[in-house]
Amino acid sequence: MAKQSGASGFSHERIETNNLLMIVLILLVLLVGGLVEIVPLFFQRSTTEAAKGVVPYTALQLAGRDVYVREGCYNCHSQMIRPFRSETLRYGHYSVAGESVYDHPFQWGSKRTGPDLARVGGKYSDEWHRMHLGNPRDLVPESNMPAYPWLERSLVDAESMPAHLRALAVAGVPYTAAQITGSADAVRGKTELDATIAYLQMLGLAFK
Ligand code: HEC
Repeated sequence: MAKQSGASGFSHERIETNNLLMIVLILLVLLVGGLVEIVPLFFQRSTTEAAKGVVPYTALQLAGRDVYVREGCYNCHSQMIRPFRSETLRYGHYSVAGESVYDHPFQWGSKRTGPDLARVGGKYSDEWHRMHLGNPRDLVPESNMPAYPWLERSLVDAESMPAHLRALAVAGVPYTAAQITGSADAVRGKTELDATIAYLQMLGLAFK
């Protein structure tokens, strides 16, 4: 077989028959390709600035978001509507990056045992959520979602909220000093169920 070598002595055969060289070159291509795709996103306004109507979570919503993460709701629920007709007809406007700028970490998820929750805010009454989280089967007999009866019995840890808001402020969420110091009072006496419902009820409102 004829060797396809150029004037410099470079040949494809050399790359294809040398494992180490092949690995190094593949890594190089992946590295450059990755940088070209990812780095511009850090500088695009549509991915770094809040979409219109998207505001930082209130202290109570934030406490509810913590419950959502702690209880692993994301294992069964995504918060990411893909730009396909079947999805937008069912859930509403597809998700955009500017909706997640205040989420650290975001709750996009990848598993849908239950429906996407990105725009569930306002879909049901608070009372519906209260019953549903207490025992989903009271409302949806065929549901395999677990019950979370303890949320109603546990109070939000109010004293931990200021530190929590402060940490998010460091990550770039524009909380004011008054919001941070007032966050403990804002959630004092509220149950984790109140907080979870407050969180669910605001999901996706900016796009409704
Ligand atoms: C084992 C999987 C699973 C887990 C974990 C889970 N869910 Fe669900 N969820 C479902 C399923 C399935 C449904 C659809 C049936 C129903 O409404 O109960 C559902 C429905 C819902 C709905 C109604 C959505 C709609 O548009 O009708 C909400 C709200 C919800 N879940 C919130 C939560 C929250 C909050 C948590 C965590 C505290 C959670 N889920 C944990 C499986 C799960």
